[in-house]
Amino acid sequence: MKMKTIWQYFFLTLAATFIVSPVFGEMPGPDASEIWNYITKASPYQKWSHWPEHQGIQPGRAPHGPKHKVFVNDLALNSKRPPLKYGSMQVKENYNRAEELKSITVMYKIKNYNPRDGDWLWAKFTLNGKARPFGKVRGCIGCHGTRERNDFVLVHDF
Ligand code: HEC
Repeated sequence: MKMKTIWQYFFLTLAATFIVSPVFGEMPGPDASEIWNYITKASPYQKWSHWPEHQGIQPGRAPHGPKHKVFVNDLALNSKRPPLKYGSMQVKENYNRAEELKSITVMYKIKNYNPRDGDWLWAKFTLNGKARPFGKVRGCIGCHGTRERNDFVLVHDF
């Protein structure tokens, strides 16, 4: 390959990385800091939508805290029937009674991540982005799994 061609490839790749990826919003891998970075910086979840019948702050049940808001990305919102589309994310803000934000729980659907249990990745984040628990969390799956037919989603009925 000629030197000039190599440079052309180099700049095209560089341009593609910087121009294309923010537009199409590259999805994070199954990694706690990548996911935290995505939902707080690359695509802040506060700008996402809600399920139509679950807008704004809602009363919640244990273990999630007395009040919550659930945000969903477009892939989730545009999933007309279960299973939800790959790349779907649901972010749930958990509040105490005084409506102070306490934690952030996330469900993220990743192809082949955990086919036995709907390919969802589960995470509970502190407000500064520490994830615990994270991954194929038995506790989360056990409870949400009661609605496996609804693809583990509890606040929205398909
Ligand atoms: C004991 C049952 C139970 C467990 C365990 C549980 N959840 Fe939930 N989850 C619920 C209920 C009930 C809702 C509906 C909203 C509410 O009442 O707070 C919910 C709602 C959610 C939502 C909003 C989307 C949806 O599916 O409705 C997310 C996201 C979520 N949970 C994540 C998690 C994560 C992550 C874990 C594990 C760290 C977890 N949940 C563990 C019962 C549970």
